[in-house]
Amino acid sequence: MTDGSHKTPKRSHAVEARNLTRQYVNGTFTALEDVTVTLQENEIISFIGPSGCGKTTMLRLIAGLELPTRGQLLTFDEPIHGPGPDRGMIFQAYTSFPWLTARKNIEYGMKVVGIPKAERKQKASAMLKLMHLEKFEDSYPHSLSGGMKQRVAIGRTLAQNPRILLMDEPFGALDAQVRWEMQEMMIEVIEREHKTVIAVTHDIEEAIYLSDRIIFFSAQPGRIKANIPLEFKNGRRFPRKEELFEQPGYTDMERRLFAMMREEITGSTA
Ligand SMILES: Nc1ncnc2c1ncn2[C@@H]1O[C@H](COP(=O)(O)OP(=O)(O)O)[C@@H](O)[C@H]1O
Ligand SMILES: [Mg+2]
Repeated sequence: MTDGSHKTPKRSHAVEARNLTRQYVNGTFTALEDVTVTLQENEIISFIGPSGCGKTTMLRLIAGLELPTRGQLLTFDEPIHGPGPDRGMIFQAYTSFPWLTARKNIEYGMKVVGIPKAERKQKASAMLKLMHLEKFEDSYPHSLSGGMKQRVAIGRTLAQNPRILLMDEPFGALDAQVRWEMQEMMIEVIEREHKTVIAVTHDIEEAIYLSDRIIFFSAQPGRIKANIPLEFKNGRRFPRKEELFEQPGYTDMERRLFAMMREEITGSTA
């Protein structure tokens, strides 16, 4: 360094929460309490925990769809005051417009964030390809399967080029087989697009497969029970799920998370 300091270049903090608390019902119900966590740029993080532990609330706070009761929440060092094009949200329910074709749905997402027309067309083609939807670009959502509809929604959000992709149980409504196909496609997409991804799930296998790190929330009030980097993956993201299952350490991790989940649900480890 030329200035003589010994600072290492700082990796950007995609999200930083400090003592974040979110209450409802005039402060009588605490959904999230004292959450302090830092999520790095280019990380894939899963929020996992029992139903009602505040996963969706945490995601909505990051999306700016609601505001903290107490504490601080920053994205790339800026306080979050509301939604912004830097954070794209994908919901569980398919959110495509039924009156627009797959292509037009994707183009519409870009129009909303002010991307010029010529670029919209070009980028939509790239997205349709990435989502394996080229053959269905002129189809309307009602004629598409659940997995395809969700791919349209993901493609539309990705085409807006957010820095952070927020996903709330994105594959929760899909059949098991479509679900793992979507998970594998997501790995391909994230690697290609270099996104920071925060995914909510209650599916342990999905969390281990998709993430570099898992944040485990305890039940009511939601607090961080564990912050678990998946070291056994050695920073790798596997294109195929069976490669994950072959990794030494996979079964132990699955068992550990299952035990934590049981502990939260029943209040015992027995
Ligand atoms: N707008 C709201 N008003 C009152 N309670 C809410 C509201 N939103 C969420 N909650 C409550 O906060 C808790 C956490 O909800 P949520 O974040 O949806 O949990 P999860 O996604 O982990 O299942 C739940 O008990 C839920 O009922
Ligand atoms: Mg939820």
